[in-house]
Amino acid sequence: MCGIIAAATEKSVGKLLVQGLYKMEYRGYDSAGVALHQVKDIAHLRSLGKVEKLESKMKKQKPRGKIGIAHTRWATHGKPSEENAHPHVSKDRVFIVHNGIIENYIELKEQLSKKGYVFVSQTDSELIAHQLDFFLSQKHNMFEAMSLLKKKLQGAFAIAAIDQSDDSHFYLMRNKSPLLLGISEEGMFAASDPLALVDITNEFVFLEDGDVVEASASEYKIFDENEKRAIRKITKLNISSEAMSKNGYRHFMEKEIYEQPTAILNTLDGRIGGEDVLENIFGEGSNDLLSNVERIQIVAAGTSLHAGRVAANWFSAIAQIPTQIDYASEYRYKNPYVDKNTLFLTISQSGETADTLGALHYAKERDYLGSLTICNVPTSSLARESDFMLLTNAGPEIGVASTKAFTTQLAALMLLALSLAKARNLNPKLRTRVVSALRSLPEIISESLNLKPKIIRIAKEVAKKDNALFLGRGIFYPIAQEGSLKLKEISYIHAEAYPAGELKHGPLALIDKDMPVIALAPENELAEKLISNLEEVKARGGKLFVIGNAAGNMTLKPKNLINLPECDFLLTPILYTIPLQILSYEVALLRGTDIDQPRNLAKSVTVE
Ligand code: G6P
Repeated sequence: MCGIIAAATEKSVGKLLVQGLYKMEYRGYDSAGVALHQVKDIAHLRSLGKVEKLESKMKKQKPRGKIGIAHTRWATHGKPSEENAHPHVSKDRVFIVHNGIIENYIELKEQLSKKGYVFVSQTDSELIAHQLDFFLSQKHNMFEAMSLLKKKLQGAFAIAAIDQSDDSHFYLMRNKSPLLLGISEEGMFAASDPLALVDITNEFVFLEDGDVVEASASEYKIFDENEKRAIRKITKLNISSEAMSKNGYRHFMEKEIYEQPTAILNTLDGRIGGEDVLENIFGEGSNDLLSNVERIQIVAAGTSLHAGRVAANWFSAIAQIPTQIDYASEYRYKNPYVDKNTLFLTISQSGETADTLGALHYAKERDYLGSLTICNVPTSSLARESDFMLLTNAGPEIGVASTKAFTTQLAALMLLALSLAKARNLNPKLRTRVVSALRSLPEIISESLNLKPKIIRIAKEVAKKDNALFLGRGIFYPIAQEGSLKLKEISYIHAEAYPAGELKHGPLALIDKDMPVIALAPENELAEKLISNLEEVKARGGKLFVIGNAAGNMTLKPKNLINLPECDFLLTPILYTIPLQILSYEVALLRGTDIDQPRNLAKSVTVE
């Protein structure tokens, strides 16, 4: 999704802004641009496509300026094009970059058109530049113009702006869209993502809704929603630049798949001790909360939703707690009934998904027992705004397709299931068994990574097809959904997931030699029934690939069968995810797609 970076220093900032844009590429974007204050004028460069193209334009034109703003755009209003790319400009004077959506843009655009402003883009963002110019023409200074603008705009926005008649400041505004200041001896910086500033500083100020900021190379002033001067805490973040490099792997996704044993170790670290989960791992006082939970409402999106679906099974089986689960984008609009003692649980890698955050804001006004988030980014809005949290500690996830975030979410959710059971004095033996199994999990996952050569053989078959069907039963159905989502996201193959027992109610009609069927077949109580479902596929000439140890007695070619290492059955959903991730990655490699930044997708979806 869109990325903002801004800088004010005593040296030229062009290179630094472009480096910041490169660091935000992982978020997904379609065009990029920069505005550099050259004192006599502002250099304005934009390009459709990759940051590389913008960089080569800059190398040719050599703009120089000590103040600048830059942006990567992910189209919402108006197609990806150079005219729609940011920065947008009004009368060669005010330049702005914007993340989010201005909901009342049609009304504001009309007002400004009547005042003679001409719109050259199809975006909802361009009006911001014209509105600021209008306020400046009314004898307001830039800071006043930003404050007046704030009152006019409705929606979610993070904005950075520069004014040609002010060559020493950039200005910022935040409402419901992430924006932070980066503070360094070299100057003042801002970005929508701390990773953009990782090589510049480790000191950040996270802005709050309603904040307007004036920043120069040597100082910054924050004014809060009531226009009062605000002093905000400086947060130190130590993000290693190694986390931001591919470290010898071909793609971030590949690196992140192989990081999973360590990532899961980090999720468990300090949370289990002896034979049980430790107390209050979700924050001080969380034990009291958990002992009162009678129901759970999960809200999440994408891969995180699949983690929630697996966890709902665990909450029921281990802690005897019923769970309701909803897509974040749907939850608020179904007039949800809130039963007494219901915990509101969000799951999110980024902690910034607008729908999930919107759901939390809605839930806070309802009668929930409290809110808890399972999140990977400690400084994110969800982490800051939830009553309790458990960080997954997976480290930055750069590949758009989520891998280590998912398996660490599952590990964290298992800790929640165990903690709920403990708070209710349930299943002590099972808790001990699962805690011990969790300790062995990183090693078992390492072992499963060695299955790659076998999975490549299957990938070669799947890569030739245009469709694929993933099957699972029970707790493996959400894992099949995750496998199908992964394949769709990065290889652009149309894939669907079904609970295997549903096959005969429709999807069986799709089965022929061109339909690869990837089935998850663990040895559990559903194995026999699943095998019968798979026989139905075989009998109809379907191309069957089975992952799991229950398929031993089927007559399958060895190359179509992948056996997995032994693992406690409650943790098998985590283990079975690994071959599916490798499969998608290898298929995408063969099809030559942009694996880390698949077309049209964004890492962190900050618009509703
Ligand atoms: C985007 C990403 C997905 C992710 C989903 C939810 O669609 O591409 O990988 O699962 O958002 O994101 P979250 O950060 O809330 O987990």
